[in-house]
Amino acid sequence: MFLTEFTMKINENYVLQKNYIFTEISKKMLDFKAKYPTRKIYNLGIGDVTRPMDKRLVDKIKKALDEQIHSRTFKGYPPETGYDFLKTAIAKKYALRGIKLDLDEIFISNGAGCDVTNILNLFSDVTAVIANPTYPAYLDSNNLRGNNCILLPLTKKNQYKMLPNTLSENQNYLIYICSPNNPTGATLNYDDLLSWVNFANRTKSIILFDNAYESFIEDKSPKSIFEVKNAKYCAIEISSFSKSAGFTNLRCSYTIIPKTLTRQNIKINKMWLRHQCTFFNGVPYHIQKGAFFTLTDEGQRICQKNINYYKKNLKILKNCLKKNNFEFLSSNNSPYVWVKIPISKSSWEYFDFLLYTYGIVCVPGSGFGESGEGYIRLSAFAKRCDIISATKLLPWV
Ligand code: MLT
Repeated sequence: MFLTEFTMKINENYVLQKNYIFTEISKKMLDFKAKYPTRKIYNLGIGDVTRPMDKRLVDKIKKALDEQIHSRTFKGYPPETGYDFLKTAIAKKYALRGIKLDLDEIFISNGAGCDVTNILNLFSDVTAVIANPTYPAYLDSNNLRGNNCILLPLTKKNQYKMLPNTLSENQNYLIYICSPNNPTGATLNYDDLLSWVNFANRTKSIILFDNAYESFIEDKSPKSIFEVKNAKYCAIEISSFSKSAGFTNLRCSYTIIPKTLTRQNIKINKMWLRHQCTFFNGVPYHIQKGAFFTLTDEGQRICQKNINYYKKNLKILKNCLKKNNFEFLSSNNSPYVWVKIPISKSSWEYFDFLLYTYGIVCVPGSGFGESGEGYIRLSAFAKRCDIISATKLLPWV
């Protein structure tokens, strides 16, 4: 007999919330495979890279791993915030954009998704400001904590740009900015970002700037929030090697917290250091060596080749959608296409329709927030053959 009154109290938000969108999609794909084991799936769903790794990159990683064989070069725990060789290469990359970073302002981590959600551990009584639609982990992580969230709809009227003009200046916020936006591709220019930085400094808010897709930017839009004047007093930047260097499996990312960012006279940088030293054991040496290689000239050329491949996928996808009179949104700064559903179906109904009729996997727009209802997102990270096969099956009605 259990004495329920003595039961550990759980965070009920974990029970109340629906499954994470990408988990739900994987489940649906597994169900489909179980029902139709011989049918082909064309996966244009989750934004996961598909290009195999370049041998030169893998050789660097193997060579670093081989160092573990010899007592002279063997390494135990990695430093919690990353090796200096990788931080120095990141600082150099920022210096080329005119941004000066100290090495202790850079925290190497194992995924932007982990940092963008775990950063909530630093704050109490959060009111989050989140675009609608956007990357689902922002809202999910706040909902799981029961935080107050303000959702700012991205619409044709505001050119799909999230801006601060509708927010009260009588309180402070944790502001999530993903630019180029996932899923719409809308990119904030310097003046847009300056208005956020000025707003955040006036209201003592903090901006969480997720630049996971910065390597896709083709125009003059800032690739880092720290290109914007005074951002070092109000912003945290979360960056990743996942999309820029194809590291979704290897896991390596970094978060930048300037030492000038303080709230209640406390350096947020020191708090994150405390956090990472307690909750995180660091990224393996050989993975950091691989990430370091991607920042060299040779590594950058390899990364660019892969990005060009995905950009070509995007072009094929957009041309075919255009020919079939689809209404869609996509910028050349992003690997995604945000597509209006051409028939009378909800996002999930159209997801099921595409999967069961054609074997095509997308992401239902409603997974990015309520404003995404009536849309789907297609990913150009898919294999070229999947993009071609899927587009040959158009018009998908
Ligand atoms: C996406 O598909 O939106 C993301 O790339 C998935 C992720 O990064 O977690």
